[in-house]
Amino acid sequence: SDQDVEEMFELARAVALEAGQVIRENFYKDKVVDTKMSAADLVTETDQAIEKMVHTKILAKFPDHKFIGEESTHETHKHELTDDPTWIIDPIDGTTNFVNHIPEVCFSLGIMVNKQTVIGIVYAPIKEELYTAKLGQGSYLNGEKLQASKIKELKQAVILFEGGASRDEQILQDKLKNVHSLFTNARGVRSYGSGALSICNVAAGRGQAFFEYGLHIWDFTAGNLIASEAGAVVTDPSGAELNPLRRRVLVGCSAEVAQSLSKVLTHLDMGWD
Ligand code: IPD
Repeated sequence: SDQDVEEMFELARAVALEAGQVIRENFYKDKVVDTKMSAADLVTETDQAIEKMVHTKILAKFPDHKFIGEESTHETHKHELTDDPTWIIDPIDGTTNFVNHIPEVCFSLGIMVNKQTVIGIVYAPIKEELYTAKLGQGSYLNGEKLQASKIKELKQAVILFEGGASRDEQILQDKLKNVHSLFTNARGVRSYGSGALSICNVAAGRGQAFFEYGLHIWDFTAGNLIASEAGAVVTDPSGAELNPLRRRVLVGCSAEVAQSLSKVLTHLDMGWD
């Protein structure tokens, strides 16, 4: 019900602000860094501490809600997305930025009910930017309503993309083909180091599209709602309907930009969350 959404939203906002405080406190400190799937896939003690804190707070208020978090995930463990209310969390998106004192870092939290995202919150505490969205009610940056760019032509578009953490040679070859295609077909190319914030940037009219092959459900769930509530189009990069467990996404400011971008990309298969 509407009241359930309001209650979840209040808690989500509170834990996002608290997570942001922890990110700020640790931003300029030396980090204990560990690697996960590749040397480019990082985790710090702060990621783990935030995820634990958030998990505890959610379960205290909503004991039967489900939880998918980046740092409580293991390579062998595949996620099951059920119809239950599910909190999907990335404690720090942009961990490599966090380790290198680059301010493009955020906490990302999406809530799905019946496999539909009803709440999205992305908080970038160094930049002091809080993005919020509720399904059907628009999206906001620090309280200001968001509207994605109205551009329709790919040749006028600035495209945000992330290379991701895979170091598999064939995957890298295909991704480089895509980068070449961006330079050929679009006006500009940017790569900021946080998938979640890149999607929010498209929602805020800071560029016209974002895509990535190989990110995870916690990287895009919150951002996707923020973007679609700002009028952007969220799809699988092939143009098909997005599958939230399929590890790839394309967000375009308009259907035209999304379709034109989809046509010039090589679509990589990155497995499933
Ligand atoms: C990563 C960042 C990066 C993207 C990776 C993500 P993390 O998230 O969003 O930009 O390329 O695919 O996994 O590991 O910093 O939370």
